[in-house]
Amino acid sequence: MTRYFATCARGLEPVLAGELRALGARAVEPGRGGAHFEGDAALLYRACLWLRTAVRVLRPVSEFECANPDQLYDAVRAIAWHELMTADHTLAVDCNVRDSGITHSQYAARRVKDAICDQFRDRTGRRPSVDTERPMIGLNLHVSKNRAVLSLDASWDSLHKRGYRPIQTIAPLNEALAAGLLLHTGWTGSTPLADPLCGSGTFCVEGAWLALNRPPGLTRKWFALQGWQDFDRELWNAVRDEARAGVKKALPAPIVGSDVHRGALDLARQNAKAAGVGHLVKLDVCDVRAARPPSAEPGVMIVNPPYGERIGEEDEWKPLYRALGETVGAHWPGWKLFVFTSNSRLAKTVPLKVVGKAPFFNGSLDCFLWEYQV
Ligand SMILES: C[S@@+](CC[C@H](N)C(=O)[O-])C[C@H]1O[C@@H](n2cnc3c(N)ncnc32)[C@H](O)[C@@H]1O
Repeated sequence: MTRYFATCARGLEPVLAGELRALGARAVEPGRGGAHFEGDAALLYRACLWLRTAVRVLRPVSEFECANPDQLYDAVRAIAWHELMTADHTLAVDCNVRDSGITHSQYAARRVKDAICDQFRDRTGRRPSVDTERPMIGLNLHVSKNRAVLSLDASWDSLHKRGYRPIQTIAPLNEALAAGLLLHTGWTGSTPLADPLCGSGTFCVEGAWLALNRPPGLTRKWFALQGWQDFDRELWNAVRDEARAGVKKALPAPIVGSDVHRGALDLARQNAKAAGVGHLVKLDVCDVRAARPPSAEPGVMIVNPPYGERIGEEDEWKPLYRALGETVGAHWPGWKLFVFTSNSRLAKTVPLKVVGKAPFFNGSLDCFLWEYQV
C-alpha cells in the first residue's frame, strides 16, 4: 500500500473523496484542496484514469522542514534518488509555496532540480536532463509554513485537460469542476440532463462521459507515471482495457444543451465531437425562454449563467436569471434546477424556492451551486 494525495479545486474535496472510495481507495481522508488515500499500483492507475474531479495525483517522496532555499537543497540532496530514477530519466519540478521563508517558487524548483542533478553528477558523473513538457520524473514541491512535501506527480499535465477542448474560449467551466458539480447534484446518468445556457458544452460533455461510464483519462495519450521505475505496463494496459470494455455505446437518458449564441453552440458541437459524444448529445441554438424538456421523465437541469462580475453588469443579467426560473417553473415540472454562480444577488433573482446552496471555488472566484425547487 502506498499513500497518495489527489488534489482538486477547493469545495470539491468531499466529491473527490467519494470518487476515491468508489474506486476502492483505502484510508480516504479529505483535506484542504484534495484528499489523502492509500492503494496499490492498480488503484493508482485507476485513479489517474477515472477521477473526474482531481487535478493531480501525487505520491509523496519526502516531507521535511525548510525555511530557506539552502535547507531545501540539503534536504533534497539527502534523498536516495537512485532508488527512484537514473541519470537517463528526464526531470521537471513544479513548485508552489505559501506562508513560508521560501517565497520564490521558481527559484525553489531550480534548487530541487540542482540538488538532484548534483547528486547524480557526484555519484555517476552524469546528470539527468530537464524536460518540462513530458518529464519521465515530474516532481511537485509544496511548501506551506516551512513544511515541504516533495512528491512524484503521476500525470504532470493537469487531469482536467481531457483532450476534447482544443481552443480555450472566453468563459468555459473547468472540466473537473463541471464534473464535480454534476456529481454533487447526485445525478448518475440514468435520468435526463439539460443545460440551456451550455456555452461550450462542458456540462453536456462531462455528463455524457459520466452516463456512458467513460473514464475522463481514456483519451489521454500520456501520463508521467509511465516513466516511473516501477511502472507496470501490463497492469496499466489491463486497467485501460477493463475501462474501455465498460464504456456504454448509448446514453441511458437524453442529454441536451442549448445556447442563444451560434458561436458558442458551434464550439459545443466541436467539443462534443472531439469527446466522441457528438452523435449522442443534442445541441441546439435557442433562447433559454424557449427551452423545453427532452422527455416526459424529469431530470436535472444545471446551468452556469453569466455572473455579471463587472460593475453595472449585474442589472443586465437579472432578466436572464428571472426568465430561467419562470421558464423552468412553467415548463419543466419535476426537474431539479441547479445554478452555478458567484453572484448571490443574481441567484436570488430566480423566482423559485432555494433548497440548497454549496460553496465551490472557480479559479479565484467564490461561487455557489444553488438548488431550487421546481
Ligand atoms: C458563462 S457561459 C456558460 C459557459 C459554459 N458552462 C461552458 O462551460 O462553456 C453563459 C452562457 O449563457 C449564454 N446565454 C446568455 N443569455 C442567454 C439566453 N437568453 N438564452 C440562452 N443562452 C444564453 C451565453 O451565450 C453563454 O454561452
